[in-house]
Amino acid sequence: MRRSRCTREVGYRDSDAWPGQFKVGTWAFVLHRISGLALVLFVFIHLAAMASALRGQDAFDRTMAFLHRPVFRPLEVALLAALLFHGLNGLRIILLDLGVGFRYQKHMFWAAFALAAAGTLTGAWYLLAPLIGGMGR
Ligand code: HEM
Repeated sequence: MRRSRCTREVGYRDSDAWPGQFKVGTWAFVLHRISGLALVLFVFIHLAAMASALRGQDAFDRTMAFLHRPVFRPLEVALLAALLFHGLNGLRIILLDLGVGFRYQKHMFWAAFALAAAGTLTGAWYLLAPLIGGMGR
């Protein structure tokens, strides 16, 4: 069967919805939503952990011992990354909502991203170094 050239050439990968075609503002939106949802998830886990105190001191101590396992350290680093990026990009969004710095929205995104990355790497050093027998705490 003969295909028309138009339907052959325009596909999902050519559209703006394909991640490879995303512009800076779209990545900012996607990362802001993912980090926001990750923070909401953390709040629920945190509340569940704190609520274990309602079942007595032993239950709370067991929960704390479980959460202090090394496997949770990388997740703490991920939480720090989400919190820093979401907070800093949130300030960028608030400025844009107020009509401030619209021409510099890409620069502001990269500034938020770089600051979040620097803070995450610094935090990762302190959180992960004890696990690999290095310096830190
Ligand atoms: C550090 C302080 C924070 C700032 C400055 C901030 C800022 C913002 C802003 C400005 C928005 C609106 C985004 C938009 O209009 O597209 C937003 C969305 C959101 N925030 Fe935050 N936020 C902060 C902390 C948090 C925390 C602690 C949580 C979770 C417990 C959270 C969860 C969310 C969620 C789920 C959204 C909706 C995301 C979306 O619809 O794409 N935020 N935040």
